[in-house]
Amino acid sequence: MTVLEAIQKSAEFLGKKNVESPRLQAELLLAHVLKMPRMKLYLNFDRGLTPAETDTLREFIKRRGQREPLQHITGATSFCGHEIAVNRNVLVPRPETELLVELGGQFLQGGAGNPLPADRRAGDCAPRQVLDFCTGSGCIAIALAAKCPDAKIVATDISAEALALAKENAAQNQVAERIEFRLGDGFAALEDPGERRQAGARESSDMSPHAQFDLMVSNPPYIPSAEIETLEPEVRDFDPRAALDGGADGLAFYRLIAGQAGALLKPGGKVMVEFGDGQAGAIQKIFETEKWIVEAVKDDYSHRARILVARR
Ligand SMILES: C[S@@+](CC[C@H](N)C(=O)[O-])C[C@H]1O[C@@H](n2cnc3c(N)ncnc32)[C@H](O)[C@@H]1O
Repeated sequence: MTVLEAIQKSAEFLGKKNVESPRLQAELLLAHVLKMPRMKLYLNFDRGLTPAETDTLREFIKRRGQREPLQHITGATSFCGHEIAVNRNVLVPRPETELLVELGGQFLQGGAGNPLPADRRAGDCAPRQVLDFCTGSGCIAIALAAKCPDAKIVATDISAEALALAKENAAQNQVAERIEFRLGDGFAALEDPGERRQAGARESSDMSPHAQFDLMVSNPPYIPSAEIETLEPEVRDFDPRAALDGGADGLAFYRLIAGQAGALLKPGGKVMVEFGDGQAGAIQKIFETEKWIVEAVKDDYSHRARILVARR
């Protein structure tokens, strides 16, 4: 079988399985098997596949036909130009989340109305403390750390398995020394375990959170629980449920963030949260009710409101 025949047969099979963009998916999987950039396939249409390559491609196409995400099959995705390994324990990073990194990076670099201290040049990053709440694969923390060499990032998640992969991703992308990964449910991840033990012996109210972050970014779970069953199989069956489920109305994490993040921010600090299509109004209301000043609601590249920027 030639490269061209393999693409045609695979695309036809994937099309019958209702996979979106079947030809592109077939090409990406074949390029992965042949370890060549997709565009190079076009210069190799007449090249024959070896029996081993044919077997591997067949296996991959079968899995994709069962609606396993392409990124789970190849084991990685590209996020803000960084290779991020993925598996069943983490949400596959989405392209629209790159906008959160862009906005966070602009803020840390003193852009867009955030002047830098006088001793720093434009393009430099002031030393900044960042919280990436619900980090999953670590994609946001890693991309921000790479963009802003002075930033120190605390990245939290409730999933130990997700954090294990996030740590590997940080090491692979050479930013591990500037990201501290913390395991825990919501803001409990920020409590010092020593402090937690001592406070247990005293009053728990002794553990007042302190203003330590210049920026908090988060892409939390935001799908209403009952809607998860209606999602495409790639998401419903392969992204971890904990990465999707935002409670009955999908807004549980925004209530948590709006209620508690204020105490963690330094003066002038900002919160930037990603949310789902159609949630902008409800989320803006949640933040305003908790006395935040909503500075902006930004659209993603397909003109859907996607990120809220707020300060106290
Ligand atoms: C939508 S995913 C986002 C992952 C990553 N930040 C991204 O943008 O691709 C949400 C993450 O929140 C984590 N999570 C769910 N419930 C949590 C909780 N109660 N406390 C902390 N993290 C939680 C999940 O494990 C998942 O990794």
